Amino acid sequence: MDIGKIVQALVDRPLQSEENHSLINRRKEIRSLELLIKYQPFGIFGISGETGIGKTTVLNVLDSGDIKKLSVSLIHRDNRETILYDLLFSLSNLLKKDSTGKVSAIAKETEEWIVEQVSIIKGASLGFSLFGSGGGSIEKQKMPRFNVFAAHEKLRTLLETLVMNYGKVLLVIDELDKESKQDVINVLDSLKLELQQDKLMVLFSLPYGIYRDYRQDRMKWNESGNLENVIKDVVFLSELTDSDIRELLLKRLGNLTSWFRPESLEPIVSFADGNPRDALWIAQKVVFDNAGAKFISVSDANESIKKIVREYMGDLALTEIQRKTLKVASDFSGNKEELLDLLKSNAIKRTTSYSTIERLTTLGLLIERNGTYRISGKAKVFLNTSQRKLSEQSGI
Ligand SMILES: Nc1ncnc2c1ncn2[C@@H]1O[C@H](COP(=O)(O)OP(=O)(O)O)[C@@H](O)[C@H]1O
Ligand SMILES: [Mg+2]
Repeated sequence: MDIGKIVQALVDRPLQSEENHSLINRRKEIRSLELLIKYQPFGIFGISGETGIGKTTVLNVLDSGDIKKLSVSLIHRDNRETILYDLLFSLSNLLKKDSTGKVSAIAKETEEWIVEQVSIIKGASLGFSLFGSGGGSIEKQKMPRFNVFAAHEKLRTLLETLVMNYGKVLLVIDELDKESKQDVINVLDSLKLELQQDKLMVLFSLPYGIYRDYRQDRMKWNESGNLENVIKDVVFLSELTDSDIRELLLKRLGNLTSWFRPESLEPIVSFADGNPRDALWIAQKVVFDNAGAKFISVSDANESIKKIVREYMGDLALTEIQRKTLKVASDFSGNKEELLDLLKSNAIKRTTSYSTIERLTTLGLLIERNGTYRISGKAKVFLNTSQRKLSEQSGI
């Protein structure tokens, strides 16, 4: 079997807009976003969800219709200044080839300005490190600083020109989902004046936790909440279903399923817990682990996954109660109250259950999604491997 072909088919890469035939599900979420883009006059919006769930993919395949769509990724997110410069640079770099003369002229000028600014600062800091004072410390006040004021002004002008020439514009800003809630708020806060202008729609990818905070802020459950002041709406990507994940893998594999048999995908589907990135990752691991085989059987896949789980989770030591909870609840799906009842009927005290549930959720062994609890696919494999290890040790 040509392993290269299979690995390539399973590579983890966000889908591009022309690959929307490979998109699984997400119709509802894409429709919500498209309605927002079409009918909201302006504002900052978000797409949120755990990492690997498909945010970049959805942003890429999103069709903005007649509305001009611009996509940038924020790479340098160390602080407010670098974020501002990064956004300004990415945008002007993208727009300098724009067919509208006015837009491309301003974009070119902006890009040159940033490059110049950066080289002044780089040159200066290099100078300081070469000729710095004998004391060793760089005198910060003498260092040239980013001209933040001018940068804000340039961003505003660039966006205004864009809107003036194109009418409504959709600006997609990806990669903010890698940041903490506080950092996201900082970024939005520092850019909100420029980004909130008529006919400008801005769509950010946001971290998983933001969605819950955003909902609570909207409902005024948080005293100090302020997300709703900046973000107008958030579309949440929940996990895919098992059959979605199965379909995704089958689509990716195409006619390679004579080697990677459809039935052998089941342990992978279970492991993935609805996360496409996890599915692709573990599938590739299984392929490498069976590189020499004639084909991958269900038990081959199971054995490979166990091996990988042992490697990644081997250090995890669970208490007897935690282990029992996982075992008792292995096929459970329901709310917290129902889970507590189940544990109680298995002689686990309510007070113990509370802390156990919390701990197992933190470890990712118990999954809570919108109030529904279930044991993760990884936990099931883990339980399986560690049980066997115990019985091997005790000679059973
Ligand atoms: N709905 C989907 N249909 C097909 N493939 C998907 C879908 N969602 C995600 N993927 C795949 O899963 C992986 C992770 O998706 P990505 O968009 O990068 O997630 P995120 O940006 O949320 O971290 C990528 O390899 C992507 O191709
Ligand atoms: Mg992404």
